[in-house]
Amino acid sequence: MTENELRDLLCELGASLFARGYSVGSAGNISVRLPDGYLMTPTNSSLGRLKAERISKLDAGWAHVGGDKPSKEVFMHRAVLTARPDAGAVVHLHSTHATAIGCLAEPGESAPIPPLTPYFVMRVGRSLPVIPYYRPGDAAMEPAIHEAAKSARAMLLANHGPVVSGKTLMDAVYAAEELEESARLALMLRGAGARALTGAQVEDLLSTFG
Ligand code: 13P
Repeated sequence: MTENELRDLLCELGASLFARGYSVGSAGNISVRLPDGYLMTPTNSSLGRLKAERISKLDAGWAHVGGDKPSKEVFMHRAVLTARPDAGAVVHLHSTHATAIGCLAEPGESAPIPPLTPYFVMRVGRSLPVIPYYRPGDAAMEPAIHEAAKSARAMLLANHGPVVSGKTLMDAVYAAEELEESARLALMLRGAGARALTGAQVEDLLSTFG
């Protein structure tokens, strides 16, 4: 996709996430890898009202070179995109149920949501590390996120929200949606003795769908 097509898609997907309640107010931010740098949602912007021409552009060294001032979470996005060269985009949300799990789980946990459904395993993967709490925008979060991202497509920031990567922007958004719905299911079924997928079923999904 061209940069302009990616800008348009970012606006369209941001509006869709916002309209369906995955993001409220000015919460959340999204980055996309370009051949010559990165696109990032501007700080204090609502995902529901992004403007293609105002989206922040950063060069390959992460310097701000165009559009509005980028998200304060640039360190979070940089941590994931440098750890995962195959990732084309990162979505960070404060979506309610995933954030709730991030308030219940202990930092250091690696699977706070059980593999209840195939699409959770296919989109999010085997592990979902829980990262200790950092103040939003704190550069100190970068090493912890970078380390976790080497072996996980998605993670939960304690008491803050999910950070999800994908091969493409669309993949990252699909995975963020799947994570939120899986968190909702996990909370709905908490203590009810729900059947999770077996280890063999998880392996079968991962070997079939990658
Ligand atoms: P920005 O408005 O700077 O992107 O921050 C929003 C957010 O979600 C902080 O975690």
